[in-house]
Amino acid sequence: MDPIARIKAQRQDARNVDDPNADLCFLALSESGKPSVRTLVLRDITADGFTLFINKTSPKWSIIQANNQAEMLIWYTNSQTQYRINGLIEELAPSVIEQNWHRRPAASKYMDYSYESLGSQSSQIDARDDLIGHINGLKEEHPEEEMVTPESAAGIVLHPEVIEMLDLNMPNRIHDRRRFVLTDGKWQSTQLIP
Ligand SMILES: Cc1cc2nc3c(=O)[nH]c(=O)nc-3n(C[C@H](O)[C@H](O)[C@H](O)COP(=O)(O)O)c2cc1C
Repeated sequence: MDPIARIKAQRQDARNVDDPNADLCFLALSESGKPSVRTLVLRDITADGFTLFINKTSPKWSIIQANNQAEMLIWYTNSQTQYRINGLIEELAPSVIEQNWHRRPAASKYMDYSYESLGSQSSQIDARDDLIGHINGLKEEHPEEEMVTPESAAGIVLHPEVIEMLDLNMPNRIHDRRRFVLTDGKWQSTQLIP
């Protein structure tokens, strides 16, 4: 079984039934032994990896710079299947961001601008109104059609090395748990006790 092909097929099934998790994942990182996890939009899935868009002003970017080992968790409710994907993160070529950034919703574009002009993502501000006022100012200053991709917008790809699958959708509640390890370009599978 090719786990990537299975994830892609189940993601399509999830989209078909409007599963709110269909286009999401949960990315765990670790720096100096301190784990952190966050929800992210899962953009693309290919044999090469799992693509995410983030901002370089965010704490997660500096964590990745220090330690690019990561685990991504995916849970598709309708398929009752969990995937834990381990591997290394690499930055995508800026051209990929350039092609995609303009398709972001306007609100996300102005938020990206604010990371450069107000404060980095996840940094503290005095009040939410300060952010709203700042974004209103950006909207007046920069009509959406004139906005350019900010340098801090980044794409990353998680190259999978080990994928663990837990399929709950089995008879007798005896779940199917398998570990897939990428060896010489091919996925080798072993069965695990769930
Ligand atoms: C449904 C959902 C989707 C999200 N998608 C993204 C995303 O694609 N990229 C992103 O940087 N943050 C996304 N976030 C916000 C992150 O979970 C996180 O709060 C933010 O990136 C700051 O993380 P950091 O402080 O660890 O860097 C999303 C949050 C939710 C709830």
